Amino acid sequence: MTGALTTTVTGVPTLAGAFPGATTEPEAQDPGAPHGYPGELAAVLIGAEQLRDKIAELAAAVAADHDLDTPPLLVCVLKGAVMFVTDFARAMPVPVELEFMAVSSYGSATSSSGVVRILKDLDRDITGRRVVIVEDIIDSGLTLSSLRKNLATRGPARVDVVALLRKPAAVKVDADVRYVGFDIPTEFVVGYGLDFNERYRDLPFVGLLAEHVYR
Ligand code: PRP
Repeated sequence: MTGALTTTVTGVPTLAGAFPGATTEPEAQDPGAPHGYPGELAAVLIGAEQLRDKIAELAAAVAADHDLDTPPLLVCVLKGAVMFVTDFARAMPVPVELEFMAVSSYGSATSSSGVVRILKDLDRDITGRRVVIVEDIIDSGLTLSSLRKNLATRGPARVDVVALLRKPAAVKVDADVRYVGFDIPTEFVVGYGLDFNERYRDLPFVGLLAEHVYR
């Protein structure tokens, strides 16, 4: 399932237009400029149109695997997955219900124990439900792995994960992600929900942050 769905974005574009989908962005030369971030984005990694097509594919795959009478319960992990979940829910060809969680890792990103602290929990019981965790990105996989274990203790019928992006080179634990949109290089990506210091979440594409912004 995952293999057939996942698109691997190989290499890092040094110029917008050097990868599939990028040429669909009219702002290819300075992709941040039309959105108020002039000179801050090095390139578009995944364009808006490519995102739309992939999300339709992911939604169709999740719906095809749904065999319960109750609708799938989408659990959006705030804040990064918020753009993805709203588009994903609207692309689903079956009714879905929405829930939101906010989590934070204990310790620093590099020394994380993999245990997440729940800052905002689900508003309801998930017993007997098919839960679909909706994540924007799998980096180390630690957040997801911990969240899965937590939700599994609450008696759901099953817990699946749909992730828009994954950095395979960075994954430390296998979080058993059934549906993945794009495997991407280990680079600093922002946009479409992903931030750097809370900026860039509002970009309609996934882009590479210009080096001078984070160095
Ligand atoms: C990001 C992302 C995942 C997590 C992935 O969230 O949304 O939840 O990191 O990292 P991991 O695989 O290494 O655990 P972040 O903590 O940046 O919060 P945000 O979604 O609010 O930006």
